[in-house]
Amino acid sequence: MTDHDPLVSPNIERLSAYIPGKPLEELEREFGIRDAIKLASNENPLGPSQRALEAATRALAQGHRYPDNYKLRAALARHHGVAIEQITLGNGSNELIDLVARTFGVPGARVVYPDPSFVCYRSSSIASDMAVSEVPLRDHVHYDVDAIIAALTPDTRLFFLANPNNPTGAYVGRGDLERILEALPEQAVAVLDEAYVEFADAADYISALALRSLHERLIVLRTFSKAYGLAAFRVGYAIAPPRLIDYLDRVRAPFNVSSIGLAAAEAALADPEHLARYVAHNKRERARLSAELGALGIEVAPSQANFVLAHFPEGGRKVADALLRRGVIARQTPPPIQDYLRITVGTEAENDRLLATLRELRGVP
Ligand SMILES: Cc1ncc(COP(=O)(O)O)c(C=O)c1O
Repeated sequence: MTDHDPLVSPNIERLSAYIPGKPLEELEREFGIRDAIKLASNENPLGPSQRALEAATRALAQGHRYPDNYKLRAALARHHGVAIEQITLGNGSNELIDLVARTFGVPGARVVYPDPSFVCYRSSSIASDMAVSEVPLRDHVHYDVDAIIAALTPDTRLFFLANPNNPTGAYVGRGDLERILEALPEQAVAVLDEAYVEFADAADYISALALRSLHERLIVLRTFSKAYGLAAFRVGYAIAPPRLIDYLDRVRAPFNVSSIGLAAAEAALADPEHLARYVAHNKRERARLSAELGALGIEVAPSQANFVLAHFPEGGRKVADALLRRGVIARQTPPPIQDYLRITVGTEAENDRLLATLRELRGVP
């Protein structure tokens, strides 16, 4: 008599489905409110580049053809100064996380990642039946670099690190990143997930792309979902040595990114002004939001991303529910940081609305 469902293997049974931030329309239906705002999914509040939208619209007319991803890969290779054989595309970087786990994740072998971090490291690793070592954060917010290095045992085959991290906004600087890369066992495939790289402006922040000489089996992930404002188009990419890309391509489904997404991403890459406008907006509003939350007595972790992690000792869920009823969607975070909310930096008006709602909840005039 088995105590698990024989339909799936026990590792699949252990998983739970990803719960996305509540969609605006659902909230408006549920509470009968209008003009709700969503600060829950780290989306670009200024929207996509006009050029990306025009390119995507033009691509619609070729909707009867299978997509050809060559042009975007070539544009990315030029953009990063790498060979085209060092790039593969994903249906969002999320697909690439999963692809890496399916390609390099040996069942029973060890995978190491900090926790809390992006939840898909866990789901993809467990789906690949790997032994998981989750390294707790220090003070609920910062990476514990010594503990990460201690967890990199000789049987580690896979390592994930989001830099900056989601949901904390913290980062590892150059010295610590070098220490981690140097400590990786040679056979370990290291994934440096740089979904928020464009927002990182700390003096000692460095992309792992510049440190590739320190570890051969390094995969850097990037996405068009955040700074480029193309979350719905589902385009991410990996930069890695050709041998690793070749293995990923053997497992990847053909035509995994749509022609519409490819066209939008290529045009967005060629519109650096749009990107720079949003990055500057985020820097300004992230500082203002952090300062004004601080003035309300709400502790905010220093963020290198397009969101802030704010501490609510009364419980994140309670505050998130109260905000929801007033039309503001913020993101609850999992234990042990359940007393926090992750709040995306919105437009000026959205941030004002959030701050006004929190003032109302706290009875501050
Ligand atoms: C750290 C990190 N990596 C990857 C992703 C996946 O993004 P996408 O699949 O849209 O590229 C996210 C999304 O929130 C993220 O926060």
